[in-house]
Amino acid sequence: MNFDEIQRDKVKHAEEVLRKYLPKEQGFQKKVLEAMNYSVMAGGKRLRPILMEESFFLFGGKGTLVEPFMAALEMIHNYSLVHDDLPAMDNDEYRRGRKTTWNEYGDGMAVLAGDGLLNLAFETAASAFDMAAGAKEMKRAALALKILANKAGVYGMIGGQCADIEAGSGQEMTKELLLFIHENKTAALIQAAFMIGAVLAGAEESAVAAMEKAAYNIGIAFQIQDDILDVTSSEEILGKPVGSDERNHKLTYVTLHGLEQSRKEVRELSREALDILGSFEKRNRFLEELVNSLITREK
Ligand code: IPE
Ligand code: IPE
Ligand code: MG
Ligand code: MG
Ligand code: MG
Repeated sequence: MNFDEIQRDKVKHAEEVLRKYLPKEQGFQKKVLEAMNYSVMAGGKRLRPILMEESFFLFGGKGTLVEPFMAALEMIHNYSLVHDDLPAMDNDEYRRGRKTTWNEYGDGMAVLAGDGLLNLAFETAASAFDMAAGAKEMKRAALALKILANKAGVYGMIGGQCADIEAGSGQEMTKELLLFIHENKTAALIQAAFMIGAVLAGAEESAVAAMEKAAYNIGIAFQIQDDILDVTSSEEILGKPVGSDERNHKLTYVTLHGLEQSRKEVRELSREALDILGSFEKRNRFLEELVNSLITREK
């Protein structure tokens, strides 16, 4: 099988795992459950759960303890997008080629669908404790849960979204501020993916720290590429509007440094990440190819 075929299989697997933990659409709260499933099952690259499982494999992980965490992280990612698209935030009407959640279900239901996904993520991740075999796996699951909470919260993704909202409204645009935004709004969840995969596989602390650094680079590069595509791509290819950043007066790598420098930065950050990924006892060639493919991704 070539890389694309393997990747398709991995996406399918990630979606099967995710589907196991998604709610049944029933009861008086049926509407919010529908909106949650609508948001999550709209497609998407499933990058974060795949990165998590590949990190787990890189450190010799076996079994299914990683699965509730894969689903949980993808739920958190999707909740962040549901809220990010709201009129009060980026005010975007399309994502993954269809109406954004607020545009389909209304603002109130979209707020609740995001809240519901965030909460369900932790219910899902906590189910790992029922699966853990013995004290060692319990401890790993506990640490993984802590990482998930930290990287998704105000010292992670939410913190980045806060600075993203404020940037541009009269604040000085500096490289430090931009890096803070990228590190937190985007790299933090990718760090959660790499670190949780490594922790659950029983990797050493130093290896987990190295994975955190690799994911920092990948996350910054990923957001720079997202900002590039917001300028250079089309809605047909992206499935979400282009020009969203300019319309919202966002501070991006492209506005600060221009397209050429941005592309260069994506390559350099990714190279450094690949060096780290190649430095462990074992190699994961699929993971390395996946990270490499992100440099030239078109969606
Ligand atoms: C979009 O993430 C939000 C950013 C952090 C740039 P993805 O590009 O991973 O979105 P999906 O899940 O594939 O739609
Ligand atoms: C969003 O960044 C990152 C999140 C934490 C949701 P963007 O606002 O650039 O993401 P897109 O372009 O809407 O996917
Ligand atoms: Mg945004
Ligand atoms: Mg947005
Ligand atoms: Mg964007």
